[in-house]
Amino acid sequence: MIISIVVAASEDNAIGKDNQLLWKLPNDMKFFKNLTWGMPVVMGRKTFESIGSKALPGRLNIVLTRQPKRYDGVNGVVSVNDFNQAIQLAEAQGYKELFVIGGSELYHQTFALADKIYLTRVHSTFPAADTFIDQLDTNKFELISSEKMPTDEKHAVAYSFESWQRIK
Ligand SMILES: NC(=O)c1ccc[n+]([C@@H]2O[C@H](COP(=O)([O-])OP(=O)(O)OC[C@H]3O[C@@H](n4cnc5c(N)ncnc54)[C@H](OP(=O)(O)O)[C@@H]3O)[C@@H](O)[C@H]2O)c1
Repeated sequence: MIISIVVAASEDNAIGKDNQLLWKLPNDMKFFKNLTWGMPVVMGRKTFESIGSKALPGRLNIVLTRQPKRYDGVNGVVSVNDFNQAIQLAEAQGYKELFVIGGSELYHQTFALADKIYLTRVHSTFPAADTFIDQLDTNKFELISSEKMPTDEKHAVAYSFESWQRIK
């Protein structure tokens, strides 16, 4: 199973505040949707709550929680109690790639397992942030592509779509 992390982080690795994102970047939301559409996504329970406790449409939604069967019955969502169960579930449905979509706890646990990282680097800092990812280890991952996106009327900060791959 290819494990791919998808994350948007500021220059100082901030990803959230008060269980929400720190920025509005509609193009990044589109990028995320296109990348993960039709694929399995796995997220921590807090991230699932941050998106309104509803499944992302068009994807197999796997929510990680230590609580028993917390989200069984929520339309389109399967809850599992550990990351291996998420891999098994995706495998059993014939998928070859699993997208880890946050939040910080999940990222922290899966950086060591990830084959690819889709990083949207937001070119700013957010002093009020309360949630961060680990610094990307450039001894372990190499930059495959990077596309810088300027500010415009819908994007108050510049950002780059970066694609990183584990060094073999
Ligand atoms: N910028 C981005 O790209 C991005 C993406 C996603 C999220 N975020 C932000 O990240 C923040 C949320 O991140 P977070 O670190 O607070 O929470 P999180 O990682 O979304 O969820 C943590 C929860 O996941 C469950 N969990 C974690 N590891 C587990 C394991 N190994 N086995 C079973 N369950 C496990 C636990 O749920 P239980 O407590 O139910 O057991 C834990 O409390 C929010 O601010 C959100 O907006 C940012």
